[in-house]
This record gives sequence, structure tokens and C-alpha cells, in this order.
Amino acid sequence: MSDFPSQVDVLIIGAGAAGLMCAAVAGQRGRSVLVVDHANKVGKKILMSGGGRCNFTNYYCAPENYYSANPHFCKSALARYTQWDFIALVEKHGIPYHEKTLGQLFCDNKSRDILDMLLAECRAARAQVRTKCGVDRIEALEHGYLVHTALGRVHAESLVVATGGLSIPTMGATGFGFDIARQFGLKVLPTYAALVPFVTAKKLREAMTELAGSATPVVASCAHPSMGEGSFREAMLVTHKGLSGPAVLQISSYWKAGLPVDFNLYPDGDLGEYMLAQRAHKPDSQLLTVLSSLWTRKLAAFFLPEGENRPLKQFSDKALAELGERLQTWRVWPEDTEGYRTAEVTMGGVDTDELSSRTMESKKQPGLYFIGEVVDVTGWLGGYNFQWAWSSAHAAGEVV
Ligand code: FDA
Repeated sequence: MSDFPSQVDVLIIGAGAAGLMCAAVAGQRGRSVLVVDHANKVGKKILMSGGGRCNFTNYYCAPENYYSANPHFCKSALARYTQWDFIALVEKHGIPYHEKTLGQLFCDNKSRDILDMLLAECRAARAQVRTKCGVDRIEALEHGYLVHTALGRVHAESLVVATGGLSIPTMGATGFGFDIARQFGLKVLPTYAALVPFVTAKKLREAMTELAGSATPVVASCAHPSMGEGSFREAMLVTHKGLSGPAVLQISSYWKAGLPVDFNLYPDGDLGEYMLAQRAHKPDSQLLTVLSSLWTRKLAAFFLPEGENRPLKQFSDKALAELGERLQTWRVWPEDTEGYRTAEVTMGGVDTDELSSRTMESKKQPGLYFIGEVVDVTGWLGGYNFQWAWSSAHAAGEVV
């Protein structure tokens, strides 16, 4: 292609959230920037995010909302380009948005608004973006990099890797960023699917099959051997394969094969005491009727032990306390997760010990940068992962 540049200041691999943001920031500093992506369209994950409305950041974003082998690593970038900075950019572009819940900010219209905003920022910065442009080979030169792409060779002073994680391979996700890291001797920590639904064991799955689509608020908890105990109060959703919903996606980040996950099905108090109070008021009410006021009738029937649907007055204090305790510590042993096919993010990735937390530059390989999800920084569900993409991209964009 004749207008493919042979020389740029900054070459960015990956035209997703982080790559486009970095291109805009670097371009606005006057750097010549080229972004290449092997996919046929840019920003596919932005478009599919947040159910089509892109949960682009979170009011309460803080370093505590991120997992990493080094929990301090994300602090600098998040502090220097905050959720408020991104919100200001969204407002500058007149994009309407709203808080859905728990500080999560979504577009009123479509995710496309966020992608169009990033592309407009790239255009204003004269950053070029090329799709269907995979990278075959990267050579480190004495000054900069020679990158062999599907559209030609390009020499760049700085090379930014923004290829994302492994989730949703059908959307163009690859492990190429990890391969580049390894090529230059950087350590890559083991990766696994996170923010992902659970597949439950066959027996439970079959027993719950009628309940698919039922949701209820829970507290989901899981004790990871090295990360400690995680606990999230949000909705749980029964699916045909197992369990999903925000509480399940969140706790999946703490889960590894063989660990149990505990669900408190009555997160607002003591269920035993609640049933005792109901017994005092309505002793003739059936237990199922009482539990159906907390959950859907189907869910209540599922959780009620066989033969236990009797009037409340027939239950002793001890029996109600025990039943309450059991339903507040419902233990599930997931068989697996749904994996990268449906996961929102990838945990692990390029070891942060290899990178400067100020600039995202490799400590070993000058001029090589890693930003966004390819780095071992993973956020909670709720706009935190995009905020990491914006913040880490901004940190690199200011110096490349
Ligand atoms: P991203 O994946 O955005 O971009 C990487 C780019 O690199 C892609 O364009 C890809 O084609 C390209 N690429 C990959 N391999 C390449 C190669 N070999 N050569 C060239 N290019 C290559 N987060 C959030 O905060 N709020 C939300 O609402 C959601 N919702 C959501 C829904 C779904 C279904 C998913 C899968 C994920 C989310 N996320 C999310 C997570 C969020 O999408 C994710 O964390 C960011 O997109 C990461 O940004 P990156 O730029 O790092 O990667």
C-alpha cells in the first residue's frame, strides 16, 4: 500500500481501548503515530461492552479495585489519569451517560459513542489507524524497532503493545502481546479467564435447569490461597450451564479449580431470625410462601428441602435457625468456568516487575511499552478495566 508509512515516531499494535487512547495522547504531543490491528474493525470490545452501552469507567475507581501480583503497580497511572479525566473527555464530546449502579457509568445511547470519540481524538492528533494489518516480525534496532506488517515494513522509535487479553478469540483476541514480551525476555505471568460464568457439576446443573433465568441478590465469597478472601454483594443468575450474574463474574476472579464458592442467599440480615419473626406474625403460613417473598417461587422451591413445606408453627426455633444458616452458606463447587469464550477479561499477563509504573516502558528493552489488558493488572467488573486501559495508555502516551 503506497500510503503506508515506512517511518513513524510511535507504532502501536492493537486498535482497542488502550491503543486508540495512547495514539490520541501521543499524537496530540506532536508525535507521528501509526496504530495497526489485525482485525477488520477497530475497537470491537468497546462496541460489545456493557451490553452495547459501554460501562466506560466507575465513579469509585481506586487501586483497591484491581488485582495484580504487585497491587501497587496500578497506582501511579490511575492517579495521573483518573476517572474524572475520562468523564471530562466524554463530556467534552457531548456524550450522554448515566450511572447505572455502584458508580458504573454507561452511555445513554450506544458504545459506538465512545469508539467514535476515540477515533475523533486520533484524527485530531493526526494518528493513523490501519486495520487488517497483522504483524509478522519485530526486530529491535540500535535505535527503535523495525516491524514487519502485512501492509509493509515500518520503522518506529517507540513500540507500544496494546493487544489486550485472550478473552473472546472470535473478536480478534490473541496472545501476541505475550509472545512479544517473551521475545524480549520479559516475564509473563500465567493467564486465566476472569469475570466469567461458572459451569456447575452435572447433578446441580440438571437440578437447576428449570431455574435458568432466575436471579436473586446474594453475597458470593471465595477464599483464594494467595489472593485471600473475596466477597461481592450483587445479583446471581442461574443459567443453563451453571451460574452467572455480576456476583458470580466478580467472584470468578478469586476462583481456581477445586475451590468452593459460598453464596449467602439472604444478604440483608439473619434469615433464621427473619423466619422466626414471620412465624410469630403468621404461624399458619407455609414456609414456601414465606421464602417466595424473598426469592422467586421457583428458587424458593429449589432451596427448600424435600418435605419441608409445612406451616411455620410446626418448625422449632432450632430448625428455623439451622435452615436459615444453611441458606446463608449455600456452598457450590464449580466444575469449571466458561473460559475465554465468554470471559470479560484475562487475569495475569506481562509481569509488572518488568515495567515502569510511571510510563509502562519495559525496564529491559528501551522504547518497548505494554498497556491495557496485556499487562498483569485486572479490574473488577464495573468499568474498572476500561479505566485501566485509559490510564495506562495515557501514561505511555505522554512519553512515547
Ligand atoms: P482490547 O481487547 O480492547 O484491544 C486489543 C486490540 O488488539 C484488538 O483490537 C485486537 O484486534 C488487537 N490485536 C490482538 N492481537 C493482535 C495481533 N496479533 N496483531 C494486531 N492486533 C491485534 N470493561 C469495562 O471496563 N466495562 C465494560 O462494560 C466491559 N464490558 C466487556 C464486555 C465484554 C463482552 C468483554 C469481552 C469485555 C468487556 N470489558 C469491559 C473488558 C474490556 O473490554 C477490556 O478490558 C478492554 O477492552 C481492554 O482494552 P485493551 O485495549 O487492552 O484490549
